[in-house]
Amino acid sequence: MFWKPTRGLFTGTRLWRTLAFRLAAAYALAGLFLVSLATASLYLVLVRELEKSTQLFLADKVHVLSTLLRDRPEDADALREEIELESAARQYEHFYIRLLDEHNKPLLMTPGMASQLDLEQLSEQTGSRLGRTVAMMGRNQLPFRVITVRSSLGSSLTQKDTLQIAIDVSEKEALLARFRLWFWGVFLATAALFPWVGYHIARRGIRPVEEMATTARHISSTNLRERILADGYPFELASLASTFNDMLDRLEDSFERISRFSADIAHDLRTPVNNIRGEAEVALSRARSSHEYREVIESCLEEAVRLSELIGDLLFLARAESPLTRLRSEPVDVRELLWGLKEYYEAWAVDCGVDLHMTLGDEPIIAELDRALLQRAVGNLVSNSLAHTPPGGSVHLEIEASASSIQIAVSDTGAGIPADSLPRVFDRFFRVDTSRSKGSGGTGLGLAIVQSIVQLHGGKAEISSQLGHGTRVSFCIPFSRQMTKL
Ligand SMILES: Nc1ncnc2c1ncn2[C@@H]1O[C@H](COP(=O)(O)OP(=O)(O)OP(=O)(O)O)[C@@H](O)[C@H]1O
Ligand SMILES: [Mg+2]
Repeated sequence: MFWKPTRGLFTGTRLWRTLAFRLAAAYALAGLFLVSLATASLYLVLVRELEKSTQLFLADKVHVLSTLLRDRPEDADALREEIELESAARQYEHFYIRLLDEHNKPLLMTPGMASQLDLEQLSEQTGSRLGRTVAMMGRNQLPFRVITVRSSLGSSLTQKDTLQIAIDVSEKEALLARFRLWFWGVFLATAALFPWVGYHIARRGIRPVEEMATTARHISSTNLRERILADGYPFELASLASTFNDMLDRLEDSFERISRFSADIAHDLRTPVNNIRGEAEVALSRARSSHEYREVIESCLEEAVRLSELIGDLLFLARAESPLTRLRSEPVDVRELLWGLKEYYEAWAVDCGVDLHMTLGDEPIIAELDRALLQRAVGNLVSNSLAHTPPGGSVHLEIEASASSIQIAVSDTGAGIPADSLPRVFDRFFRVDTSRSKGSGGTGLGLAIVQSIVQLHGGKAEISSQLGHGTRVSFCIPFSRQMTKL
C-alpha cells in the first residue's frame, strides 16, 4: 500500500513518473546489486578457503605418510596407527587411507573404508589422476575429496606402492549449503526492504519540494505574502527556496506597483472627468449668457486637453514597455536640439524669474537617436526644474560626449527632493509633494517617461538631489547601440 500516491505532489500523477518512485527503484536496484555482489564474493571466498583447507589437509597427510614410509619402512605399527586409528578417533571430517602395492592389492586400509567408498571406483583414480585432489561421491551419498600418490617404500614392503587418502567433506558442503540459504534469505529481505526504505528516504528528501509546490499553489494575485520557511532544508533546496522567496518578493513588489498604478490612473482620470461633469451640470442648471457658456466650454476644453495628455502619456509608457517597440532613429545634432529646447523654454524661465543657461561645448555631436523622444525627455527635465526652482534660481543644461556615449544633464538650484523620496521619483504617478504637484497639474509621469525613453535608447537615468539646494538629473546614452525604427 505504501506505493499508492495519495496526496500533494503525487495526486493524479502516474506512480512511475514520480521522483520518489524512481529514486526508490534506483535505491532498490543498487542495494540488491551491492548485497548480491558482497554475498556472492563472500561465498566464493569461503568455497575457495574450504577447498584449500581440504587440500592442505590431504597434502599434510600425504607428507606424513610418505615420510613414514620412506624413513621407517619397518615400523609397520606406526604406519598402521596412522592409517587405522587416527581416522577412527575423529568425530568430524572422517578420512580414510589405504595403501596398495604395485599390483593394486591393498596392504593397509582404514577400517570401514569399504562401507563408505566404492573401492573399485577409487582404484580407477590410481592411473590418470595421480597427485591431484578429485571429488567423489561416497556410498552414503556423502561427498569426498580423494588424492592418490605413488610412494617409494623401503625393502621389506614393495618398491612402488600407491597411497590413497579420501576425506569426508560433507560438513563443509553443509556449511556452504547453509551459507547459500542465508544468501537467498538476505537477497529476498533486501528485495523486499530496499524499495520500502528507499521510497521513504526519497519521500523524506523531496518533502521540501512538496512544501514548495504547496506554497506555490496557494499563491495568487491576492495572496503574495506566503513564503517558504527553509529552516532545516538541505543546502541545495534551501537555495532553491530562497530563490523562490526572492521571486515572490519581486512579484509582490510588481503587483503592488501595478495596483497602485491602476488606482492612480483611476484617480487621475476621474478628477478631470468630474471637473468637466461638474462644470457642465452647473452651466445647465439655469439659463446662461453666451459669454458664460464660452467660459464653461473653455474650462471643459482645458480639462479635456489634460485628460488627453494624461492618456497620451499612459499610452506612451505602455508602448515603451512592449518588446515590439522600435525607435525612429536618425542622425541628430544633439547640440542643435538642446539649443532649440532652450529657446522654447526661455519665455517660461523668464516668467519664473529663473536663469536658464547651457554648456554645449564647441564640437558638433551627431548621434543616432529618436529626435522626438529625446526632445520629450529633456523637455520633461527642464520643465521639472523650472517648476521647482524659485525666482532668482538657475537651471543649467549641459552635454558631454565621450567616444562611446553622450551624457545630458539638467541641474537646478531649486527646492530639491527629500532623500527618502529619491529612490521612487522614477515610479509612475509618484509625486513628492502631492498636494502642490496636483495644484500645479503634475501627474507624476514625467520622470517615468524620461526613464522609459532613456532605456529605449539603451541608456540609464540618474538623479541626485539635496533638499533646499537643488536637483541634478542626468542620463547617458551609448553611441554604439544599434538603433531601430519605431
Ligand atoms: N528638479 C526637481 N526639483 C524638485 N523636485 C523635483 C524635480 N524633478 C522632479 N521632482 C519631484 O519628483 C516628482 C516626480 O516628477 P515627475 O516629473 O515624474 O512628475 P510631475 O512633474 O509631478 O508630473 P508630470 O511631469 O507628469 O507633469 C515631482 O512631483 C516632484 O516632486
Ligand atoms: Mg514633471
